[in-house]
Amino acid sequence: MSTPPVSFPTTRLRRNRGSAWVRNLLRENQLSVSDLIWPIFVIDGKDKTEAIASMPGVLRYSIDIAVKMAREAATLGIPMIALFPNTDPALRDEAATQAFNADNIICRAVRAIKLEVPEIGVMCDVALDPYTSHGQDGLMHGAKIVNDESVAALVKQALVQAQAGCDVIAPSDMMDGRVGAIRSALDAANLQDVLIMAYAAKYASGFYGPFREAVGSGGMLKGDKRTYQMDPANSDEALREVAMDISEGADMVMVKPGMPYLDIVSRVKREFRLPTFAYQVSGEYAMLMAAIERGWLDGEKVIVETLLAFKRAGADGVLTYFALDVAKKLNG
Ligand code: PBG
Repeated sequence: MSTPPVSFPTTRLRRNRGSAWVRNLLRENQLSVSDLIWPIFVIDGKDKTEAIASMPGVLRYSIDIAVKMAREAATLGIPMIALFPNTDPALRDEAATQAFNADNIICRAVRAIKLEVPEIGVMCDVALDPYTSHGQDGLMHGAKIVNDESVAALVKQALVQAQAGCDVIAPSDMMDGRVGAIRSALDAANLQDVLIMAYAAKYASGFYGPFREAVGSGGMLKGDKRTYQMDPANSDEALREVAMDISEGADMVMVKPGMPYLDIVSRVKREFRLPTFAYQVSGEYAMLMAAIERGWLDGEKVIVETLLAFKRAGADGVLTYFALDVAKKLNG
């Protein structure tokens, strides 16, 4: 871009900021309710909610309440919710058996929500960590998380979720080849209209801690996830991950975590020009809430500011635990 021959005092950039009307007129990016995806944690039981200590204000819902929350989200104009289960530790095992049970908590939640609130999009995570006794996203042989056997398991998990009526399958496991394997299996099962949002550039991040408390896998996790999730030091590698997932059939891609990785969101969007999402993860939520609760940050200002930053970086939308509150605010 050539620099136009302008200088002070002929040019005064503050003229464009002098009043609300001109700021409104010149605003380059907008946050709207249709940019929001709301992650929800689901538990067994009836008429039940549970608090999550490290995520103040976020609750786990029994399915009947999750249906009501989905109704509220749809009424506010939120296009999609993302479901995560908290599985009874007694039902977790090495093989992640519950992940393939067509009556597991996620499949039951999907059926109930799609029956009562058919107009809202429902996205399901594909990864074994809510179901494994070791808390890893894949299957383990000894200390190793094995790739191809894990992909076979993830395909089975995706199929039961899609058969339950899930609209968007979101593989978050970071195994190689899982997007292609899931796409072929969905197509072969006559589920070609089910979308795939790939967690394409997902980093081995410390910011997932509160989520692991929410789904109950934190205390169980043996080791870490660095052999499959990306090294936070890397950026070019994210483009390779995204390129692979697109070539395997991803309809949309995601970068995760969000705010510390806006450079990745920006690069991915510029490079591939396809629907790109960011996940403002549990640790980002916890960090903001901790400061807001102490009065150190003004929640009214900073929450929308963080979400707008995702839009400015090029994201088409954001998964955020603030979705419901922000939607209410945006709707006035
Ligand atoms: C499961 C999964 C994780 C998150 C989404 N899906 C945790 C992890 O990979 O350990 C994190 C979401 C959040 O922190 O809000 N694979």
